[in-house]
Amino acid sequence: MGTKKPAYIVRPPTAVLTRGFDPRLSVGSARPAVFRSSTYVFSSPESAERAFAISLGHAQPNEKESVDLIYARISHPNAEILEDQVVPLEPGAKASAVFNSGMAAISSLFFTFCPQGSSFVYTTPLYGGTYHLIHQLLEPLGIHGISVPAGDTKQLNSAVESAPNLRLIFIETPANPVLTMTDISSASKAAHRHPNSPLVVVDNTFLGPTFQHPLVQNADLAVYSATKYLSGFSDLLAGLILGRDPSLIAQLHGTRAVLGNILQADECWLLDSRLPTVSLRMNRQSKNAQRIAEALATHKKIEKVFYPTLFDNPEQIRIRDAQCQFPGAIFSFRLHGGKRAAFDFLRNLQIARNAVSLGGVETLACHPASTTHSEMSNEDQKLLGVTDSLVRVSVGIEDWRDLLHDFHQALNSVTNYE
Ligand SMILES: Cc1ncc(COP(=O)(O)O)c(C=O)c1O
Repeated sequence: MGTKKPAYIVRPPTAVLTRGFDPRLSVGSARPAVFRSSTYVFSSPESAERAFAISLGHAQPNEKESVDLIYARISHPNAEILEDQVVPLEPGAKASAVFNSGMAAISSLFFTFCPQGSSFVYTTPLYGGTYHLIHQLLEPLGIHGISVPAGDTKQLNSAVESAPNLRLIFIETPANPVLTMTDISSASKAAHRHPNSPLVVVDNTFLGPTFQHPLVQNADLAVYSATKYLSGFSDLLAGLILGRDPSLIAQLHGTRAVLGNILQADECWLLDSRLPTVSLRMNRQSKNAQRIAEALATHKKIEKVFYPTLFDNPEQIRIRDAQCQFPGAIFSFRLHGGKRAAFDFLRNLQIARNAVSLGGVETLACHPASTTHSEMSNEDQKLLGVTDSLVRVSVGIEDWRDLLHDFHQALNSVTNYE
């Protein structure tokens, strides 16, 4: 009896270029074609009936069954190619769902898994749009959010233990903008101890898919604003959710078909072409950011720099070392001199641009208290460290020495308001 050789498993940078796309289905084109059709011709009425039964969840496709496409709001070839090609980038993932923005992904997630009367636990601070979704849409619909401060493992555990009808734990780590980290693996353990087995979902936009792998830490789903690093050029909006369990992803596909928030073919094609370079870009961006953040930490006009390699809290250092491979390309800092100093700094930048968003190849800087986090109450801002003197920077792939020179010259023009 011959022993079967185990299949050779290629690593993610190879898999993303070689898996999930069959050139024969695109008339031999080496890169995917764009399929802009809104509707698809069925191979037979029986195939149409079968496709509808599967799409509505009344039947399961057999292994290797080729199911006819129906209509582009449900799915289309470029979404399917993208959803297959992105999977190797997220260790532990088996399936994914693509949406037309990060917020479309996050709102579809809550509408899929949190019915009326249920509750979810979430860490704060959260991205402003998610915060708005929770308070302005979910709460009025009777979907109850319980907040815990990012990084507070004890409080998260006790919130999970006592939450009624708990369905989901939503973690954003590192938390925007001061980069507080929450222990994903410990949240997953708390979820597994709970009788409802709530889903653990991580917004992995800041460090993923290259430097942090939530599914390896036993989270159920990783959520992205793919507008950021995955796309990388600040020129398209997209969202992604990846998971180990394809049936969870199938439920998200179902919600997406109803809400109509699938990513369109052209954007899928663009995003797909950016996937093979995401880890190259992120590595360069992280190296740049580390050099700049560490150099600015001792500047006399700067009170404090927030960056993973500069953490001083032992618990934060423990979490960082347990779940992050590299520190990433975002840092924030507090200037001496309050809001006027922060605004002067932003006004005087010559290479970095004063804009919200992050993850693109160009360096961006913003003032969270008056922009991305302006919807928070003053008390929440204070509690979470979103002060008037705080500036957040997303570092790009420029030469780090030019960026550091730009930051120094912008700091020189800040009048000392102390
Ligand atoms: C952490 C995080 N999650 C979600 C979003 C929302 O993504 P999008 O703007 O693609 O809807 C953002 C956007 O800035 C974000 O920073």
